[in-house]
Amino acid sequence: MVFVFVLGLLGCVLLPYLLMRLLWSHFSAGKQQQLNGKHVLVTGGSSGIGLSVAREAASRGAKVTLVARNVDRLLEAKRAVEGVCAKLEGEGSSKVQFFSVDLAGRREHIASAIKEAEASMGPVYMLVNCAGFARAQVFEDIPQSLVKELLDVNLMGSFTVTQEVVRSMKQQGKGGAVVFTSSQGGLVGLYGFTAYSAAKAAVVKLAEALHMEVKPHGITVTVCYPPDTQTPGFQEENKTKPIETRLISEAAGLFTSEQVAKKLVEDALQGKFTSTVGFEGFMLTTLCAGMGPISDSLSLLAQVFLSGIFRLISAFYLWSFSNIIKREHRKKIAAAMRTKTE
Ligand SMILES: NC(=O)c1ccc[n+]([C@@H]2O[C@H](COP(=O)([O-])OP(=O)(O)OC[C@H]3O[C@@H](n4cnc5c(N)ncnc54)[C@H](OP(=O)(O)O)[C@@H]3O)[C@@H](O)[C@H]2O)c1
Repeated sequence: MVFVFVLGLLGCVLLPYLLMRLLWSHFSAGKQQQLNGKHVLVTGGSSGIGLSVAREAASRGAKVTLVARNVDRLLEAKRAVEGVCAKLEGEGSSKVQFFSVDLAGRREHIASAIKEAEASMGPVYMLVNCAGFARAQVFEDIPQSLVKELLDVNLMGSFTVTQEVVRSMKQQGKGGAVVFTSSQGGLVGLYGFTAYSAAKAAVVKLAEALHMEVKPHGITVTVCYPPDTQTPGFQEENKTKPIETRLISEAAGLFTSEQVAKKLVEDALQGKFTSTVGFEGFMLTTLCAGMGPISDSLSLLAQVFLSGIFRLISAFYLWSFSNIIKREHRKKIAAAMRTKTE
């Protein structure tokens, strides 16, 4: 009975979803902006999703600036992106530069790196804010220093870089594209992510407000909501993740940084406000659209017609998350009792 119900629900959701995706890709094909010869600046471009975005941009003929802290990793990333350029235009066609800057550091350093980047490669056409990190920990164990660092890098880093780039984009008057990297954890608060979810949710509201401001200037804003993505940052995050967070996250599967980056660049070029991969990402962004910007009529249609059914499906997810937490809680109590009696 439950099986038939779930099958019916999926039929109601998946079929309209696939139909909409088909229609969307058909009608949006001609609308897409091109990156050929344009300057793309990627923060966090030395690793993971940021590096894949840089490679994707280079494969579309863009000039690429990478921003991160560690110089060795930046050098390695530069070589990797140059490899993509060489395949496109032959050896020696270097259109890649990097700047070592701490985005949680001094504003003057960030501003001067962007100025220098623009002086050598021209005005930034697309800014992709990818620098960031996640740490999951039980609420009362999170040190204040970690909360500050999460906010400084994920929120303030994106805020400062974007302020510098948008100022220049407005002066140029040729439009542009700004991408923020939030997380599915920025849409739904999950066990262990009290600090991280707060930082990534703040990025969403920053993007929504900015979208309203820059639209008249022909500047688009996109928020990317990566699911769990196989990257060095994700491996680092997993080292200290509570078991509950890990089991809950597993519900949405694991993606590659190339999948996320390709979709991010495509969505940004189409001027879409949200960028996701996978069914859970589509469901979450549809369900959490609220009063967010409407970037295309198909997404609006999806939000109007699918929100109710998605809310019902979300109840199943929340129920299973709650069961995971209860089960792990019972295990911990049993373990504590055992140690007490030993
Ligand atoms: N992977 C996932 O599962 C996942 C899921 C949801 C959202 N995200 C988000 O996606 C973005 C990229 O994640 P990722 O997994 O690709 O991470 P990653 O592999 O660790 O890459 C992070 C990049 O950001 C740079 N960075 C970190 N702190 C910085 C700082 N203070 N100043 C300048 N650069 C800094 C790093 O270089 P340096 O360390 O050398 O500075 C690196 O280039 C992050 O915002 C993350 O929160 C990731």
